[in-house]
Amino acid sequence: MKTLILFSSRDGQTREIAAFIASAMREEKGLESDVINIVRTEALNWTQYDRVLIGASIRYGRFDPALMAFVQKHKVEIENRPNGFFSVNLTARKPEKRTPQTNAYTRKFLLQSPWQPELCAVFAGALRYPRYRWFDRIMIQLIMRMTGGETDTTKEVEYTDWHQVTRFAQEFGRLLGKMS
Ligand SMILES: Cc1cc2nc3c(=O)[nH]c(=O)nc-3n(C[C@H](O)[C@H](O)[C@H](O)COP(=O)(O)O)c2cc1C
Repeated sequence: MKTLILFSSRDGQTREIAAFIASAMREEKGLESDVINIVRTEALNWTQYDRVLIGASIRYGRFDPALMAFVQKHKVEIENRPNGFFSVNLTARKPEKRTPQTNAYTRKFLLQSPWQPELCAVFAGALRYPRYRWFDRIMIQLIMRMTGGETDTTKEVEYTDWHQVTRFAQEFGRLLGKMS
């Protein structure tokens, strides 16, 4: 059996975090994972998986609608297995906004979602100005100016705390199975 790790990512940071968790679980526990984009899940074979993790990033205040659509469609399959969720955003670069209760996007998702993850985390994402289209670059710079963040548009800053991600992977790997 394997772990299913789904990601919803626009610029790659959430995909990178998902792949990192897969490696950590392989190294620590010998657990194999499939890391799959949540919009490429039409032919998912659930019988292969005994654990499921979903990670999703925020863009302009919201998760991709594919996240909630997947959760609504597969609530039962998710809940039948040890399960977890993580969100990725820049608000979480501030440690006090890096918990499911203090991160507004994550709190709102948990309020709206029919699925309540067993384990939930918020990770800080990355700010990569040179890679954004000009409109996005200007908008993000504006948000950063208003919230006291980096405004130099020549910069790429990765705020993700990889130690936090490692601890989360360990905790997720320890969740007890339900199907055996
Ligand atoms: C166009 C754009 C809009 C964003 N909007 C928000 C936002 O509203 N709130 C926030 O906290 N972070 C926001 N972010 C930051 C992203 O969540 C962060 O860059 C994250 O690492 C992106 O993850 P991804 O690479 O997996 O898509 C935004 C980033 C971009 C490029």
